[in-house]
Amino acid sequence: MERTLSIIKPDGVGRGLAGEVIGRMEKAGIRICAMKMVRLTIEQARMFYAVHRERPFFDSVTRFMTSGPIIAMVLEAENVIKKNRDLMGATNPEQALPGTIRKDFASDVEKNIVHGSDGPETAAVEIKFFFSDLEMQQ
Ligand code: RTP
Ligand code: MG
Repeated sequence: MERTLSIIKPDGVGRGLAGEVIGRMEKAGIRICAMKMVRLTIEQARMFYAVHRERPFFDSVTRFMTSGPIIAMVLEAENVIKKNRDLMGATNPEQALPGTIRKDFASDVEKNIVHGSDGPETAAVEIKFFFSDLEMQQ
């Protein structure tokens, strides 16, 4: 069994899309082992997206991630990193496949509703960023 970190971003929470996103995950056979709603500080957002610190969109995306509450989840299933990325669709909604979360709901390349870890190492680091071992015993 594999685990990954998913985030419903401020636009997803603000537009009332949490139920829709979680429903798609559950229908895909993904189990939610931990969940919390938090509002990141700018320092926390900069830490979370640190791999992108040299990119031109870094300031903008980190400000966006602090613009409202987010819902962080630990997802579990076989191959869940890829499964979740497939449900999400491409970063840019214009390039996302029909039926994906981003194609159906994202307004642009930044406000794209969801985050998903992109590999096993990032999944481990990102899960630890939000959850302690005690919070993942479900
Ligand atoms: P994520 O990390 O949030 O799951 O998204 P991703 O892997 O599909 O995309 P990534 O390249 O890791 O970018 C992280 C987030 O930064 C924002 N972004 N803005 N303005 C832009 O060109 C741009 N590019 C990326 C998006 O919110 C993206 O999800
Ligand atoms: Mg990414």
